[in-house]
Amino acid sequence: MKVLVIGGGGREHALCWKLNRSESVSEVICAPGNPGIKREARCINIGAEDIDGLMKLAREEKPKLIVVGPEVPLVLGLADKLRAEGFAVYGPDQAAAELEGSKSFSKALMDEAGVPTAFFETHTDPEQAAAYIRKIGAPIVIKASGLAAGKGVIIAQTEEEAIEASNDMLSGNSFGDAGSQVVIEEFLEGEEASCLFIVSGDTILPLASSQDHKALLDGDQGPNTGGMGAYSPAPCVTSEVEQEVLNTIAKPIIAALKTRGANFIGTLYAGVMLTDKGIKTLEFNVRFGDPECQPLMSRLKSDLGEVLLAAAESRLGGVKLEWDDKKALCVVVSSDGYPANFETGQVIGGLDAVETAGTTVFHAGTAEQNGSIINSGGRVLGVTALGNTVQEAQQTVYKALENLDWQGGFYRKDIGYRAIKREQNS
Ligand code: AMP
Ligand code: GLY
Repeated sequence: MKVLVIGGGGREHALCWKLNRSESVSEVICAPGNPGIKREARCINIGAEDIDGLMKLAREEKPKLIVVGPEVPLVLGLADKLRAEGFAVYGPDQAAAELEGSKSFSKALMDEAGVPTAFFETHTDPEQAAAYIRKIGAPIVIKASGLAAGKGVIIAQTEEEAIEASNDMLSGNSFGDAGSQVVIEEFLEGEEASCLFIVSGDTILPLASSQDHKALLDGDQGPNTGGMGAYSPAPCVTSEVEQEVLNTIAKPIIAALKTRGANFIGTLYAGVMLTDKGIKTLEFNVRFGDPECQPLMSRLKSDLGEVLLAAAESRLGGVKLEWDDKKALCVVVSSDGYPANFETGQVIGGLDAVETAGTTVFHAGTAEQNGSIINSGGRVLGVTALGNTVQEAQQTVYKALENLDWQGGFYRKDIGYRAIKREQNS
């Protein structure tokens, strides 16, 4: 079958890479794609947010399956429009995508469904927000309600810092419209994990566990980013944890969406914190995690095309996923300066040598210029390897990265450290 993938980041590169290796798939096309995706798919330069352009493309290409990678087109209602014209789509409708598009909606729905999460209030007025911050005290977490590419969360260590962040968001300074509402919530401590599910109506199929490093700097310090590296499986997600997340988080939230008339077909991503007081939900996303998707696709043995088509056609029941027993680890190389300002247009050399050293380089923010690969975004590469242990996978990636020839690139040196500590202790 012919599959159309929407998006052009590292996640979409991993999806196209896997689809291209699926027996059921004869052709992969991708809009807009990127220079790395070009190796796996025919790329068509239509942006992932150009809804009219994408509708026209779907009508022309008539793919059997359309996979929507990023959240923005889902929140804009691309999946609804495609389904209305009879396409098989993997990605939720607009009503269900609100789960990611609005943190205030998501928190309210969690409350309604009894899904465990940090206690919170939603505010639009700076004075009332400040009063709530003073009532709770620091540390405290301030979140822009709308989409902010993973950067709209401030963990404030003092009340002053929290009030400043909240004022910045509410005045429209830091995140535009996305910050016109803020969620102020309890600070949770514990280990974080990403629990993803392929969902089709009432059928909820867990993917292998993974863990992302969202902070910019080693030791999980510094500002939040879209994700600086990830690995799978996450050893803190035991089978008991997996069952609990399925039963107390995934099932009730999907059921609550259903009572609101939202039919979920796509990936449900539950970001969870394993705290002393039990498992709490940090956030929901309605798509594969980026960079979690890169290690997940590296380990998936099943035919991805078949699985996603089954979900899109509401016949996911009975489908089982097979995984490589090996561990996978992905280190994100970003443009130095990200998540704040950074320079683009720098030539990136040594990519072939990085791959020859045993990795797959998934492209995210790259472009082509005069036959060279240049950086064009914040997160640029996802260098991924398999290993018998997380440590082995990590060593392969870091050794391979010695071949990267890009002065303006930045990456963390400790991706996977928690899992490696567990491996060493067991
Ligand atoms: P979110 O986009 O809501 O997942 O937040 C991004 C990141 O901020 C999470 O992955 C956590 O690392 C951190 N975070 C979010 N909410 C909290 C919280 N209530 N307590 C502690 N850390 C949090
Ligand atoms: N890696 C975090 C996310 O995809 O939201």
